[in-house]
Amino acid sequence: MTLVGVAVGAALAIVAVFVPWLPDSASEQADIIDNVYWVVTIICVVVFAVVAGVSAYAVYKFRAPPGDTDDGSPIHGHTGLEIVWTLIPTILVTGIAVYSGVALAQAEELPADHSVIEVTGEQFAWTFTYPDVEVEGGRPLTTGELVVPIDRTIRFEITSKDVIHSFWVPEWRMKQDAVEGITTHTTVTPTQLGTFPVVCTELCGLGHALMRSRARVVSREDFDAWVREQQRLAREGGAVQGAELFAQQCGSCHVLADAGTEGEAGPNLDEALQGADAEFIMESIVNPSAEIAEGYQDGVMPANFGEMFTDPQLEGLVEYLQQATGGGAR
Ligand code: CUA
Repeated sequence: MTLVGVAVGAALAIVAVFVPWLPDSASEQADIIDNVYWVVTIICVVVFAVVAGVSAYAVYKFRAPPGDTDDGSPIHGHTGLEIVWTLIPTILVTGIAVYSGVALAQAEELPADHSVIEVTGEQFAWTFTYPDVEVEGGRPLTTGELVVPIDRTIRFEITSKDVIHSFWVPEWRMKQDAVEGITTHTTVTPTQLGTFPVVCTELCGLGHALMRSRARVVSREDFDAWVREQQRLAREGGAVQGAELFAQQCGSCHVLADAGTEGEAGPNLDEALQGADAEFIMESIVNPSAEIAEGYQDGVMPANFGEMFTDPQLEGLVEYLQQATGGGAR
């Protein structure tokens, strides 16, 4: 029986290890997490195969012959077996707990030389603030797209403005809840260039499935160039930047044909803003409670866009929305 169990376990473990189950590993932390994942998975596969193999064998071997309606012979237990099947899981579970704890501590280790990025979740968008990067008006750089330099450890300080969200870049593995009123943390050192999805992994309402953004890992030089470009855009604004801002901040809740967005948590802007003047659009962005579109509720749209973005940025967004909905001169 044991031999059958071990053979099946070994076969399944090989299948489990050689199929690419996980997304690419793109951070130092990802490798640590993956090791834990695989160790636990292999233990589980072997245990499952032994138990299932022994059960299947016993059902076949000790089945009642045809016509046998007797009760089985009474069994009084087997102390030796009971000790074994209590001891083995106890050792396994304790070992896994200690190993996972050590791995998590390693993954969250923070070198003195690191960068901080604040992550804010709200229904239904992510906002990233770079406290060390100043833009027009002395405020910190705020974006809807996460851009980070490669091989630099980042401490993410995460919070929420409303319900619980969860910040996750699958390729980085580290995942952390965003909770209103507290700041949670996670540490990531990206090791691969490229663009990765930022996903909300906590069911947070109507727009949960669309609460996505991008994480772009770039070289140190590209990062510095990106920062300078963001500073220039914050200074100058304009409709082109407005389009980008819309895609990052507004598209997950609003339909707008020009931007190709399909969010349904808020009004369809092709209809709601058709022919609207700049003043109305600006008011709708910075003070969304002023006028609520029919069928929608007050307090759903964030009321702080006026503080988050510079005046040139907001004017660029208004200019873009006017153009996109046919209200302004093209
Ligand atoms: Cu935010 Cu799901």
